[in-house]
Amino acid sequence: MRRLSRKKALSLVKELDAFPKVSESYVETSASGGTVSLIAFSAMALLAVLEFFVYRDTWMKYEYAVDKDFSSKLRINIDVTVAMKCQHVGADILDLAETMITSSGLQYEPVIFELTPQQRLWQRTLLLIQSRLREEHALQEVLYKTLLKGAPTALPPREDASVEPLTACRIHGHVYVNKVAGNLHITVGKPIHHPQGHAHIAAFVSHETYNFSHRIDHLSFGEEIPGIINPLDGTEKITYNNNQMFQYFITVVPTKLNTYKITADTHQFSVTERERVINHAAGSHGVSGIFVKYDTSSLMVTVSEQHMPLWQFLVRLCGIIGGIFSTTGKSAFTCNHI
Ligand SMILES: *[C@@H]1O[C@H](CO)[C@@H](O)[C@H](O)[C@H]1NC(C)=O
Repeated sequence: MRRLSRKKALSLVKELDAFPKVSESYVETSASGGTVSLIAFSAMALLAVLEFFVYRDTWMKYEYAVDKDFSSKLRINIDVTVAMKCQHVGADILDLAETMITSSGLQYEPVIFELTPQQRLWQRTLLLIQSRLREEHALQEVLYKTLLKGAPTALPPREDASVEPLTACRIHGHVYVNKVAGNLHITVGKPIHHPQGHAHIAAFVSHETYNFSHRIDHLSFGEEIPGIINPLDGTEKITYNNNQMFQYFITVVPTKLNTYKITADTHQFSVTERERVINHAAGSHGVSGIFVKYDTSSLMVTVSEQHMPLWQFLVRLCGIIGGIFSTTGKSAFTCNHI
């Protein structure tokens, strides 16, 4: 094996070096040159740090596809308080095929309708976030990213011992329904199922006790994820009429969420509301109560959190360092000797 002497190898490498070099004798360090190099290094450090923040940042990518999953059940989470006694109201769900969905998953709890000051504050905050969400869509991304970090959106418990008469009814729980359009209704009387359909027994409830003022503390579809704020959460409707009909028309969009913290199958929804007084004499027919009509969208959204890959970060970093070197190099590391 033939070995090159060190000197020979060095000169060979020097010959291979294609980059133009300024001869050592022309190079002279100076104060101005030093300042430029200092600025160049600071700029490099600053840009590198900024670039690192860009690298650390994540963004949401939205993809749309047709939802092919028809067989699975849809979970509805409900927490509604109605200003009527529990023995006078009943909730149930009928779907498009008129199949009665057992509402046995729902609990009826006698409560006080009025919120305590602390609960009121909570509800106001929730409504404020709702209105901001409607205007500022980027806020949703922030919420997605901070999911599970945040506190649950459930109403905090009353801080006082309830002494007032419990004249309201909190209906809460969850039910599983088929993925077809359906109608959740809360009306007077307990639902009764018979082969021809179903009815509500309301014979013993006096008209004067009808009061469908209500508050929706939570209404969501799919898995319950703490931190997600649903469009109807915090909604409060007060009526001074005994025969009021409240309607909510909901379109549910299945949403797959993939963030660095969680992966979940959830459902977003959009809602339009309507309310009117039932007055048969004036031609406004119907049944007083709270009706939530829902339908699922055939489109599915996948929301995934994206991140700059490491190689891209390194390439950009090299670009910054190389760029500053080449633009400042001539003045920073050699001085002008013309
Ligand atoms: C229903 O209840 C609410 C809250 O307690 C009350 O403000 C409202 O006046 C009541 N409406 C009727 C028709 O009784």
